[in-house]
Amino acid sequence: EKGGYDHFMLKEIHEQPKAYRDTMGSRINADGSKIVLDEIRMTEDQIRSIRNIHVVACGTAYHAGLVGKSVIERLARVPVEADVASEYRYRSPIITKDTLVVVVSQSGETADTLAALREAKRQGARVLAITNVVGSSVAREADDVIITWAGPEIAVASTKAYTSQLIAFYLFGLYLAEVLGTIEAADLRKTIAALQELPEQVENILQQSAKMESFAKQIAAHNSLFFIGRGLDFAIAQEGSLKLKEISYIHSEAYAAGELKHGTLALIEEGVPVIALAAQEELLEKTLSNIKEVKARGAYVIGIGLEGNEELSEFVDAAIYLPRTLSLLTPALSVIPLQLLAYYASLAKGNDVDKPRNLAKSVTVE
Ligand code: BG6
Repeated sequence: EKGGYDHFMLKEIHEQPKAYRDTMGSRINADGSKIVLDEIRMTEDQIRSIRNIHVVACGTAYHAGLVGKSVIERLARVPVEADVASEYRYRSPIITKDTLVVVVSQSGETADTLAALREAKRQGARVLAITNVVGSSVAREADDVIITWAGPEIAVASTKAYTSQLIAFYLFGLYLAEVLGTIEAADLRKTIAALQELPEQVENILQQSAKMESFAKQIAAHNSLFFIGRGLDFAIAQEGSLKLKEISYIHSEAYAAGELKHGTLALIEEGVPVIALAAQEELLEKTLSNIKEVKARGAYVIGIGLEGNEELSEFVDAAIYLPRTLSLLTPALSVIPLQLLAYYASLAKGNDVDKPRNLAKSVTVE
């Protein structure tokens, strides 16, 4: 049942190229010029009347929502807020009939997310669900549904469901941009072509697993570490940190790289591991200066950058390089080494990788 892998998590990590292909599937037309989301029943007029978007989810799905926020804002120029579902209802969010609420849930049964969906509907918003389970509660109650075709996910720590959610956000963001006229035809084609390259690029990163295994063994001896990054790299830092905590039980914190010096830098001392995400090329200079700050305090830095930016190696103790893609799409690649890092750290500590303590795959109480 684990298809020759030692754990479901590792199997699911390796299923990501297929999950990307299946989630894109027929949602891109034959000549790669258009996004086809036939399942969306929202009319073009309804799309044009959207004034704001709220993305609401829990855990890993919330982290997909953080990427989704940037993707939609950059592509479609509609303001987006992202909230964890258990907070959303209680902060009196400003919901009108022109608000689109996007709920994201692998299982489609998470009680906090479902409650947020119901509250949004009660207040007159239209709800779009991004979920991996056809016929789930969230899928049934939402007005529109985009199914992520990741296939069943067994390991408690989400990997392929998360990355399929990213793909769903790219497709939806591009679809909105097409309808709203915020993207040029040439840019749309270019982005679609880059999306279609992702599965093979993920395969390339998976071939570097041994490197992540050796980094994992190094960090497994530590009690605490940091993930830093800017922009979309920060969203991935948060997911990488959660993944590590969930299954290795090593404490970590994700920090916006530029915010470190406003407090957290106090915790950086000799030997503290810092995983620095440096895949946002336009922010590279700034991130490098933040890497220098932690290095100067003795941190052991593992950098994650893009091929072609190998100067990163001069600033860090060890580095891994990702195939080049559009800046907006890097999250679909940069999270892969972090999933492997968490997996191998959990393994090194002798933990039950697929069934971490205190956690459940789907939480149906608020
Ligand atoms: C948590 C799971 O309780 O629920 C996480 O342990 C998951 O892995 C979160 O990300 C949200 O689940 P779902 O099914 O709504 O995506």
